[in-house]
This record gives sequence, structure tokens and C-alpha cells, in this order.
Amino acid sequence: MGETTFRKFGESSYSVAYYAFSMKPVCKVIQTSEEMDMARSIRMEVFVKGQDVPISIEMDEYDEIATHVICQYGDKFIGTGRLVQHGNQVKLGRVAVLEESRGLGAGQAIMLKLIEEAKKLGDVQIWGNAQVWALEFYENLGFVAAGEEFLEAGIVHVRMNYIGN
Ligand SMILES: CC(C)(COP(=O)(O)OP(=O)(O)OC[C@H]1O[C@@H](n2cnc3c(N)ncnc32)[C@H](O)[C@@H]1OP(=O)(O)O)[C@@H](O)C(=O)NCCC(=O)NCCS
Repeated sequence: MGETTFRKFGESSYSVAYYAFSMKPVCKVIQTSEEMDMARSIRMEVFVKGQDVPISIEMDEYDEIATHVICQYGDKFIGTGRLVQHGNQVKLGRVAVLEESRGLGAGQAIMLKLIEEAKKLGDVQIWGNAQVWALEFYENLGFVAAGEEFLEAGIVHVRMNYIGN
């Protein structure tokens, strides 16, 4: 990946180390069916295999109308998320990062990209259902809990409304 590129151009090992250190997850709106396949395979890995979410719930009808985001780290696809608009409500969800790639900022980058895209839709309420263990992850991004905890696909969730930072 980055290392090969730098060695090919004869850079010092300092540059190699700096490049690896400075690499950041990059997110974009999905444009191609290949990118969508990649996003689905990440969701299969994280939700269906990792959290036992039934595939019929995971791959629902909203995929057709959603805006999907994919996240790359170097040349590897590591994460995804989607937004679905219902009138003035925009729901963010299906945010997933491959286990081995967590802690690199990809989850945050996906959420920021989804929020950016949601804001383009005008005066909308942006929200999501957070798994309770991820409350802090959402709060750091400017969301506040709203309402009671509930079960979705057997996992305890709470609605989080975006109010901004
Ligand atoms: C939630 C998830 C997307 C986070 O992805 P990630 O790439 O590891 O997150 P980031 O590296 O961007 O971390 C962003 C921040 O959230 C925090 N965070 C991430 N996972 C956390 C956890 N399990 N508990 C508490 N904080 C967490 C990080 O510490 C970081 O905070 P910082 O900026 O203060 O350091 C990832 O853990 C995941 O895919 N989980 C399984 C799928 C899932 O449950 N998705 C739905 C969540 S409601």
C-alpha cells in the first residue's frame, strides 16, 4: 500500500513512517454497484456475522432509496453507513467499520460525511438509533438521547437526535 509507493520512489524510511502515520480514512458517497457490493459485504461481516442480525432485517427495502457512504483507508474499504430521508426526518444508520480497522477514526468520518450529506437536504431533523454502548460515540458527534431504550434486532437501542456541536 502506502509503503510500497514510497519505496518505489526511493523515499527515506522516515517518509514511509510519516505516510503511514498521516494516513486518514476517506469517505465518499457511493456511486457504483461495485462500491455498493463492498458496503454490503462490510455490513454482512459486521452486523449479520458479528452481531447475529438476520439478513432480512439488515438488507431492508430502504437500501434502494438510501444514500450510502463508503470509507477507505489506503486502498482498503473498511466501513460504510447510510442515510434515509422520510420527509423532514433524515435517519442515519447501518454505520459499520470492520473490526480490525476500528479506532482509526473511520466511524467518526462516516458519520461526519452522512451529516454533511443530510444537511444538503435542507431544514431536516437528523437522527439515528444508537446501540446503547455507542452513546458516547454519538454524543461526541453532537447527538443527544431522546426517549426510552428499545429493542431492535434483539439489541438495545436509543434514539439520538442531532443538535450539532
Ligand atoms: C461504532 C463503530 C462504527 C465505531 O467505529 P470506529 O471506526 O472504531 O470509531 P472511531 O475510530 O471513529 O472512533 C470515534 C470515537 O468514538 C469512540 N468510540 C468508538 N467505539 C467506541 C466504543 N465502543 N465505546 C466508546 N467509545 C467508542 C472512539 O474512542 C473515538 O473517540 P475519540 O475521538 O474521543 O477518540 C464501530 O465500533 C462498529 O462498526 N461497531 C459495530 C457496528 C455497530 O454497532 N454500529 C452501530 C453503532 S450504533
